[in-house]
Amino acid sequence: MKVESVVLAAGLGTRMRSDLPKVLHPLGGKPMLLWSVQACHAASGVWPVILVAPNAPTVRQTAGEACRYVEQAERLGTGHAALQAASLLRGRCDLVLVTSADMPLLTAATMRRVIEAKRSSQAPFAFLTHCGPLARGFGRVLRDPAGEPQAIVEEADWRGPTAGEMEFNAGLYVFEAEWLWSHLPALPISNKGEYYLTDLVAAAAGEGRPAAAVNTEDADEIIGINTRVHLAEAERALQRRINQRWMLEGVTIVDPATTYIGDQVSLGRDSVIWPNTHLQGSTTIGERCEIGPNSILREARLGSGCHVVASVVEGAVLEDEVQIGPFARLRPGAHLMRGVHMGNFGEVKNSTLAPGVKMGHFSYVGDATIGEGANIGAGTITCNFGRDGKKNHTEIGAGAFIGSDTLLVAPVRVGQGAVTGAGSVVTRDVADHSLAVGAPARTIRKLGAHD
Ligand code: UD1
Ligand code: CA
Repeated sequence: MKVESVVLAAGLGTRMRSDLPKVLHPLGGKPMLLWSVQACHAASGVWPVILVAPNAPTVRQTAGEACRYVEQAERLGTGHAALQAASLLRGRCDLVLVTSADMPLLTAATMRRVIEAKRSSQAPFAFLTHCGPLARGFGRVLRDPAGEPQAIVEEADWRGPTAGEMEFNAGLYVFEAEWLWSHLPALPISNKGEYYLTDLVAAAAGEGRPAAAVNTEDADEIIGINTRVHLAEAERALQRRINQRWMLEGVTIVDPATTYIGDQVSLGRDSVIWPNTHLQGSTTIGERCEIGPNSILREARLGSGCHVVASVVEGAVLEDEVQIGPFARLRPGAHLMRGVHMGNFGEVKNSTLAPGVKMGHFSYVGDATIGEGANIGAGTITCNFGRDGKKNHTEIGAGAFIGSDTLLVAPVRVGQGAVTGAGSVVTRDVADHSLAVGAPARTIRKLGAHD
């Protein structure tokens, strides 16, 4: 059975009070819309059709070319929105899954459950419900004495009790395609002047083929986002879900409430994440690492046994057993090989530090190559920015010892085993195993075996 999906995203989102379309507000580090788009893809195997408002180029750009788009010219309700997808999908599939872009936490697994429920029943469609005390503007499910879904009553029209356990419509449906396309045009108009998709529950019951309700107990999954208060609730729920997954995979998260891990991140076993740490983008962390507290890692790649304390790492690679921080900053292109130690107030950008390099305090290393075991003294700066605006390269040989407060005016090379004196300004290459001092530094002698 071929399944296609439709993501409703043409609403105005006025309750967000924002210039940004609601469905583009970030959740877990990516635009809200992408959560439902990706879940639909995972559940059905094809990218969804997205219902968009006219003039919503940013929504299209965000979801990309793989999706198909249909415009809803007038905002006439969820039933009217779904009907617009008929122009693309009618006759093209057996089942149509309909979900909303403002329900980002619905998982592909739940979508598959609803697809399965539809497949295994005679009902014209299956839909997801949740029983609980939480109202949040959801439609209420009414059942007949035999327990079959009879109708959904929207909150605005609800005249029954307003507290206590109720069954709510979560807003995820899987329809028999032809039944959907033939029933949508016949929806009644509501008091609000809209066509409600939810009225199909009453239509199915009226034909003696009541819809099949599938229950989810997970209250987080059905957080719908209408306001920024809901957005924060969803962020918290998502964070809880991701953290739990990693804890069950063998990662220690000391304080899950202050640990933010993106959905593309991967972590190795026995790593420990200390509080107030943000792991973003496609960051990967090996085994037995200690990250945080107070760290931000974005697009970072760490081997095993690394320690990162109170630092910011972006677009950098740390091989095994690297230690950085507190207060280190790694920028794109920083590559710290095995066992590098980088202490407080250092910055490394677009540079390779060979195994065992030590850079303890207050240094800037940019556009440089540093050889194995070299020691970068406190306050060392690679002056890489040329007068022509180009970034110039600094090379420091293996085993070199760069004295405190050395300025390396690139392009420049300090040879293997060479030493620069404290406060030198190195404007010319320093040969292997030589000592250079002064400003500008001059070589004063060749180093002997005992230097
Ligand atoms: C809807 C359901 C409600 C359910 C809730 C769950 C209806 C009538 N009600 O209410 O039973 O409990 O979702 O989240 O369906 N949209 C369009 N075009 C429109 C109107 C809406 O594309 O003309 C889109 C919105 O962008 C949104 C989705 O449809 O993504 C749902 O619309 P919304 O107004 O948020 O419906 P709810 O009041 O949340
Ligand atoms: Ca909603």
